[in-house]
Parts: sequence; C-alpha cells; structure tokens
Amino acid sequence: MLIALLPGDGIGPEVIAEARRVLETLALPDMRFEEAPVGGAAYKASGHPLPQATLNLAKRADAILFGAVGDPDCDTLERHLRPEQAILGLRKELELFANLRPATLFPELADASALRPEVASQIDMVIVRELNGDVYFGEKGMRKTADGKREGYDIMSYNEDEVRRIARVGFETAMARGKKLCSVDKANVLETSQLWRDVVIETAKEFPKVALSHMYVDNAAMQLVRNPGQFDVIVTGNLFGDILSDQASMCAGSIGMLPSASLDASQKGLYEPIHGSAPDIAGQGKANPLATILSAAMMLRYSLGQAEAADRIEAAVAAALAAGARTPDLGGSLRTREMGDAVLAALT
Ligand code: IPM
Ligand code: MG
Repeated sequence: MLIALLPGDGIGPEVIAEARRVLETLALPDMRFEEAPVGGAAYKASGHPLPQATLNLAKRADAILFGAVGDPDCDTLERHLRPEQAILGLRKELELFANLRPATLFPELADASALRPEVASQIDMVIVRELNGDVYFGEKGMRKTADGKREGYDIMSYNEDEVRRIARVGFETAMARGKKLCSVDKANVLETSQLWRDVVIETAKEFPKVALSHMYVDNAAMQLVRNPGQFDVIVTGNLFGDILSDQASMCAGSIGMLPSASLDASQKGLYEPIHGSAPDIAGQGKANPLATILSAAMMLRYSLGQAEAADRIEAAVAAALAAGARTPDLGGSLRTREMGDAVLAALT
C-alpha cells in the first residue's frame, strides 16, 4: 500500500506529521509513504502548485493524504499558479467527484460548539458534495463591459450525468445510514439547480427506501443552525457544499475536527481535513491535528480496506478527548504535537 502524503502550506505540514505518526504506530503490513510538495510550497520550490511529479505520485498511490493549500504570498499570482489550483487540479485529474464530509459531534465537545449543547448534540450527518463541476470549473475570466468597466464572470453549470452520479452517491450514503436524503439547491432562481432537482427526483426511483426531501440553500444554512439534528445525508453541488460544510463544522465543535474523503468511481480517494492552511497560526504548533488524523481513518476505511484500523483511530481520538485533550480551537492549550501524543497514548 502506497500512501502519498501531500502536506502543502500553512498548518498542512504540522497536521500531516501527526497523522503520519498515528499511521506508523498502527504498523500495518507493507504500508509505505511517499511525500511530495503541493500548493504554494510547490510553487516556491519549482514554479507550479501541482508539479507533474506530485500528480504522478498521486496517480500511482493507493490513497492520498492531503494537508491544506493556500498561501497569502501567492494571492497575487495569476490564478492558474495559485496554491488552490493544486487541490482543484487533483480533484479534476483523478476524477474525485464525490466528497464525503461527515459532521458529528464528539459528546465531550458539546461546549465547544457554536450552538447550544442540546442542539449541537443532535448533529450526525454526512454532507455529500459534488467536486468536479459547478461554478468552480465553468468558464471564467475578466472582461470589460461596453462602457469600459471591469467585469468578472464564472459560469455555473451541471450536466445530467454529473448530477446523476453524485445523486447516486447521496442515495447510497443514505441507504447505509438513516435512509434520509436532503438535496440542497437554489431551484427557485438557478437553471443549474432546476436540472439538479429534476435529476435527483429521477434518480430517487432507483432508491425507493430512501426518504428524499429538497431544500433551498439559504433555508439549509438556516436549518443547519436551528435544528441540525433533522439532517441525515445532504447532497449538494460544489459551491453550496463548500459553504455548508464549513458551517456544519462549527456546529460540530470546531473546523479543526472535520475530516473528508474525495472519491472516484472506484473508491480511490484523497483524504483531507476540511479546514484550510490557516496561515495566521502556521508554524506555531497551535493547529488541531484531529481532522487530519480522522481523515487518515477514513482513508483506511474507504480506500484501503482496513476498517478495523480506522475504528481504532477513531476510538483513540474519542479517548483523547474524553481524557481532556484540547487544542486552542477547542478551548484548551495543547500543542499540535501534544494532541498527537494524546492520540498515540490512547492507541497503544
Ligand atoms: C475546501 C476548500 C477548497 C474548496 C479550496 C482550498 C479551493 O475550501 O476543500 O473546502 O473551495 O473546495
Ligand atoms: Mg472549503
């Protein structure tokens, strides 16, 4: 088993280092690691955020563990050279179209949630976010209007095949859980969303046991805070999923807690925390490594057939939290490495 480690920028290297220690401690037979630069770090080293060698490693590997990309030094570069293009390029090149973002609250963290504990404790959902289409990948650019003003544009579109394949992942995810699927769109305004809704309704015929509902994205944002316990599985497009998953993370305690899996049609995947590179705290040992450690657990479960090892990691994270381990985002003062130590202690 070859695991590609792509630490990236900001706190990426710090959180990947802890996840690597956890994986090494499990000592699974023939697990190998290869590391490569990505994002702003790769741009600074070799002039491109996703160097060919990094892409080749990602293709060769059995699974990819990704830190984060984003570097303020690179914000003025042409868009195709910016760090974010690395993750977007990997998602596109590897056809990682299905992004699973589970949001559950560890009971010990009820007080860390932005919501009242009795509301927060109800959270147990998976956001299934489409990753290969939408306004992220449509035609985009800068142009001049007739009267010479600057105008930026980004085309939003989905074709029916793209919607059908992510809708199926949504229904399948619901079948494996509480059998409730909420499709989030903006069909009252957007044609893209009307097609989305039509295709989700068609696909529902293949999954008669799943209770399907639809919600406009503005209402979904409100309901996530009002009563997150009503959601089992949410399926939505790339942009809405990006926004709602950040929101769900704070409902579940901290953005430092949420892992994600980005899968292709054969369950090959890239695993990453949903948080970004957090340049403001990079290199200070303040980052919470748990989202990345939990991403490693998802990797073992979904791509490497090691469900038992995944369970062990998740149990160790729960035990570390129960023992009081808290990084600053959770209201504590542990350093990144010390949180890693706490998980290792619970693992062994
Ligand atoms: C995420 C991130 C990325 C996204 C950025 C870094 C391009 O916010 O994975 O949620 O927008 O998809
Ligand atoms: Mg995001």
